[in-house]
Amino acid sequence: MQNRVRGTLISFEGIDGSGKSTQIELIKKYLHKNKKKVLFTREPGGTLEAELIRKLLLSKNKKIKFDNKTEILLLLAARYEHYKKLIEPAITNGKIIICDRFIDSTLAYQCTGNNELKEFYFQISKPLINNFVPDLTILLDISPTKALERINKRKNKNKYDNKNLSFFSNVRKGYNELAKNNSRIQKLNALNDKSILAEKIRKLIFNLLK
Ligand code: TYD
Repeated sequence: MQNRVRGTLISFEGIDGSGKSTQIELIKKYLHKNKKKVLFTREPGGTLEAELIRKLLLSKNKKIKFDNKTEILLLLAARYEHYKKLIEPAITNGKIIICDRFIDSTLAYQCTGNNELKEFYFQISKPLINNFVPDLTILLDISPTKALERINKRKNKNKYDNKNLSFFSNVRKGYNELAKNNSRIQKLNALNDKSILAEKIRKLIFNLLK
């Protein structure tokens, strides 16, 4: 029997305003130009069902405030749909996937500084995705002050974009703790020039794929 090569998942992470979307667009163009077949997806979302859950999570109705645990459950419901229907089959078929946000977003946004929520997250997540982690995570690091400057220039803000400095400082702290404890996470300074940053990202991805 032929040995199937396992696929690869690369995730992009960072607080809102870190320039993640711009860098994902640049790597997408580059890989396309070089005829590399890569599947691009995002969280929450990535499948019809998970995108529906995304709409609930990112509702701009100010009256809607999910309890912290409900929010985690919805994020994990979306993740399970995405994982089961798109990521797992793609990984089994040897595909390369680039995912805009994944597990580290939930840990950084929903669980930083709250051990009870962290435990809750791991308990539910474990049987769903069986400790699946990305092969490489590109973390775009930026100070919340700079990130908010960028966000405030945006027309289409999402629900989390309206959070304040202390919220983003806490999320950044969470990301930094994750980066310290996981060698798969490569932290890059998001204030670097756009093309220099893109070059660094290309190198990281090519080193992984070669
Ligand atoms: P993103 O797609 O990066 O935002 P945008 O709409 O600006 O492109 O992410 C949507 C929001 O979802 C973002 O503010 C972070 C949040 N989020 C969490 O809080 N936890 C999670 O687990 C994930 C995947 C996203």
